Amino acid sequence: MTLDEFQHLVTAIERDGLAAIDQAMSAEALESTRHQLLGRKSGRLTDAMKSLPTLPAEERRDAGAAINRVKQALELALGARRELLVAEAPAQPGPDLSMPARHGWRGAKHPVTLVIEEIAAIFRELGFTIATGPEAEHEWYNFGALNFPSDHPAMELHDTIYLGPGTLLRTHTSPVQVRTLQLHRAPVRILAPGNVYRRDFFDASHAPMFAQIEGMAVDEGISFVDLKATLTYFANRFFGETATRFRPSYFPFTEPSAEMDVRCTICDGSGCPSCKGTGWMEILGSGMMHPAVLEAAGMDSERYTGWAFGMGPGRIANLRYGIPDIRLLYDSDIAFLEQFSS
Ligand code: PHE
Repeated sequence: MTLDEFQHLVTAIERDGLAAIDQAMSAEALESTRHQLLGRKSGRLTDAMKSLPTLPAEERRDAGAAINRVKQALELALGARRELLVAEAPAQPGPDLSMPARHGWRGAKHPVTLVIEEIAAIFRELGFTIATGPEAEHEWYNFGALNFPSDHPAMELHDTIYLGPGTLLRTHTSPVQVRTLQLHRAPVRILAPGNVYRRDFFDASHAPMFAQIEGMAVDEGISFVDLKATLTYFANRFFGETATRFRPSYFPFTEPSAEMDVRCTICDGSGCPSCKGTGWMEILGSGMMHPAVLEAAGMDSERYTGWAFGMGPGRIANLRYGIPDIRLLYDSDIAFLEQFSS
């Protein structure tokens, strides 16, 4: 072998060796690469070294230097690659796949939402559709069109949350009656769930914001019989077979007006703290729509009649689930709310 050929061989070992080191993807692979290159018995560089004696004596020094240079280069590359593989290797064993999975977080509907949906489902069967109106409402829709006299106490600043002159946060869902009639005329049957606002203290039985559900049916020939029959049917569907009673009441926008009670679901009428000893629970206000309301909405009150009601699904949720303090409905306490998820 000539020195030239020898240099050539050693350079090829270096080039192949560096490439192989770069491609080693694990400590084991790297060790076998090291063995192939520098292994004491059969490494490629070791073999090259063994052929040194075949060179002319005066060329062996240069050949030996070439061997050493390549050996150092390979060892340097091996060391660097080893460090890299160690750094990339996971420090700990992988995840324990035998560990039971954590339960996923699952949202659930709020009890008031559940009650609204259940009520809407019953009225849907009776041909009622859902209507909505704005929470920021004109004074006229909230009061004027609903036949409130202009000195009515509800219109005072201390009772109603005004946003500006003539605009307020609606105090009830009844404005949807007028908006719906303006838009759809008659015959019409709607249910209007939504939030309403009043300047009330936040205590066990009051909140400045709460949900209401408005109901309204307008057509030719609608009478108080329809009101009573529909609301009694609803009460029996929602609470199960139950006694109901209507008590005369007053609202500016209905005449006659009535409040509907159902037998207390907690004590079945014998009297308990939930019904304040009366045996009855008040669940809604209702009445025949006042002709002035129909006229305000542009309807002919000689031709059309209608009835309406308003109930508080929060109150109904409290009665149904025996919730003693309405603030629980606003607290976002997971331990409380979880009890309603099915
Ligand atoms: N809007 C009334 C209230 O908030 C309830 C109601 C609605 C009464 C419709 C009669 C008819 O108290």
